[in-house]
Amino acid sequence: MNNFNIALIPGDGIGPEVVAEGVKVLKAIEKMDSNISFSFTEFPWSCEYYLQHGKMIDDDGMEKLAQFDAIYLGAVGYPGVPDHISLRDLLLRIRKEFDQYVNLRPITLLSPSLTPLKSKTEKDIDFLVIRENSEGEYSGAGDWLFKGKPEEVVLQTGVFSRKGTERIIRYAYEEARKTNRTLTSVSKGNALNYSMVFWDEVFEEVGKEYPDVKTYSYLVDAASLYFVSNPERFEVVVTSNLFGDILTDIGAAITGGMGLATGANVNPEKNFPSMFEPVHGSAPDISGKGIANPIAAILSVSQMMNFFGEEKWAKAILSTVKEMLKETEQLTPDLGGKASTDELGDRFVELLMGKAVSNK
Ligand code: NAI
Ligand code: MG
Repeated sequence: MNNFNIALIPGDGIGPEVVAEGVKVLKAIEKMDSNISFSFTEFPWSCEYYLQHGKMIDDDGMEKLAQFDAIYLGAVGYPGVPDHISLRDLLLRIRKEFDQYVNLRPITLLSPSLTPLKSKTEKDIDFLVIRENSEGEYSGAGDWLFKGKPEEVVLQTGVFSRKGTERIIRYAYEEARKTNRTLTSVSKGNALNYSMVFWDEVFEEVGKEYPDVKTYSYLVDAASLYFVSNPERFEVVVTSNLFGDILTDIGAAITGGMGLATGANVNPEKNFPSMFEPVHGSAPDISGKGIANPIAAILSVSQMMNFFGEEKWAKAILSTVKEMLKETEQLTPDLGGKASTDELGDRFVELLMGKAVSNK
């Protein structure tokens, strides 16, 4: 019997609305699989909490979270609290202090009608972006000199440590080997003459241990072009924090947009919990209306199941999403349907349970 301890941080806006549907899916899995159980503990940390208590998270919040196997997060950020407070004090803090240095973002076309790319099908768009999640261009290092003076200078320093660069590249090689896929490194050594030359060297060095993995190395500008013109080139992609941030938004655009994009923040050593979340934010423009698309949050559950080693359920969720996407009527308005968040979730669980029964 595997019992998984999950911390829920629904957060702000549509966060709680979509997390509720993900929890429905987890409870359905628990019901169908006698070898799995989940315990849930919900935390109220959010912008609303900030406005009441003057902080985004309890003083002992990180110690509390450290006890869990995984964190399932909706979204944080809401008008009334500056984004740099809500994101830095909660989301980025968790990613950093729990050393979630791997960001896994699947770029998978789940239905041909969802891509704006002419003549591309599910076969052409199916890859995984592995983004460095702990340092690089987002290290926060730098300086602001002579503020407001004519000689004003700002420095934003990219930090690429040997340890940080090696571990993300090694993780990507392992993933490519395990799944028998090619590995593409995206960098920019021609212009970033220290950081990206170093990145390219480490990519080659570590690659010597993986002669069985076929590799490619692209400059980030060329890679952006290929994401749109030739997505079939990519199977596993490894890249830095900034490049990964931008490229995965292109990835979301070619696979159906924000309602479907998901990302896992992983600490592979399991010294700390990993965090699963939809890529989208709290969507204040639609929150409270019951029309948020919960599919991205449900796909986060699929990633969580993979992380727990319950691949069977990860796959079942993915194939149920594919099945759902065929029935436009059952989808939320962003995908052209008429269903509410809650109705989509219920229909999803019904299909998932039907599938489990027919597989027996
Ligand atoms: P957003 O992702 O919340 O919304 C962008 C647009 O996409 C909106 O028009 C929204 O209605 C739509 N949208 C997003 N998710 C949707 C869904 N599941 N179903 C249907 N439509 C959906 O990004 P925005 O507006 O830039 O940010 C709003 C707030 O969220 C800000 O406070 C921001 O800081 C925060 N945010 C938080 C993130 C996180 O928690 N990881 C990520 C991005 C933004
Ligand atoms: Mg999110």
